[in-house]
Amino acid sequence: MRLKGRKAIITGAAAGIGFETARRFAAEGVQVVLSDIDGTAVDAAAGKIDGAIAITADVTDQGQIDRMVSGAIEAFGGLDIIVNNAGIPMLGTVETLAEADWDREIDVNLKSIYRTGRAVWPHFKSQGGGVILNTASIAGLLGSPGQASYGAAKAGVINLTRCMAIDGAAIPIRVNCICPGFIETPMVLAYLEGQDDPAASRAQVDAMHPLGGIGRPADIANGFVYLASDEASWVTGTALTIDGGLTAGI
Ligand SMILES: NC(=O)c1ccc[n+]([C@@H]2O[C@H](COP(=O)([O-])OP(=O)(O)OC[C@H]3O[C@@H](n4cnc5c(N)ncnc54)[C@H](O)[C@@H]3O)[C@@H](O)[C@H]2O)c1
Repeated sequence: MRLKGRKAIITGAAAGIGFETARRFAAEGVQVVLSDIDGTAVDAAAGKIDGAIAITADVTDQGQIDRMVSGAIEAFGGLDIIVNNAGIPMLGTVETLAEADWDREIDVNLKSIYRTGRAVWPHFKSQGGGVILNTASIAGLLGSPGQASYGAAKAGVINLTRCMAIDGAAIPIRVNCICPGFIETPMVLAYLEGQDDPAASRAQVDAMHPLGGIGRPADIANGFVYLASDEASWVTGTALTIDGGLTAGI
């Protein structure tokens, strides 16, 4: 077991990448708190993982985040890792995107990491270390059509990761992120279903990945296991791209 005895919180853990990361962490010996805004779904998700607990929290609310962190520390007697994974897609250009949607995107996908950082930092500092992991995206590395706010938020996640890594290095709080390509999760399946020809869109998305097809949540969860582990003890401020080769070139 590569993470035996560690204690972790994963946000956006009711489904998709977050749930699979919780499952993989638990298999590596982690006591996991699954957190999500959807209380019913996260209770059900935690029920599928031995020893895991659920805490309902909205990452846009500092009070709920503070309670999530103190609840995890109380339940497990400590906290070593937080995975900031909660995210939403807001599709639109600067011309079409409503200001409220722009603000919501930045709030959920980017500012949430500032909020959880504030909540865990004093604890990590007093225990002499901790690990913060963020789910960014290839949409934060490259421009993509109709993803103005999503792309801006995810680019922000990548550079916030670097800034926090520098600020935390002396403690050490290690801070890293993963930039996934397209991963088969409820978010992406809903996006494909919303296209005029879902089958053709799926084929097009599959073809964008040189290694063959869309990725699986486990491809990202495996990266988080590595970045959380002592194997990555000299890794901080990195953006690990896991995308089946999508951004390797044309
Ligand atoms: N699926 C992909 O192709 C892909 C690619 C790159 C990056 N990502 C990123 O990975 C992360 C997970 O995405 P996914 O595809 O598994 O999505 P998903 O929609 O399957 O899961 C996201 C979870 O976040 C939760 N959530 C949404 N708003 C929240 C809030 N305010 N507070 C707490 N929880 C909230 C949702 O309830 C949901 O359970 C996101 O940050 C997403 O942007 C996904």
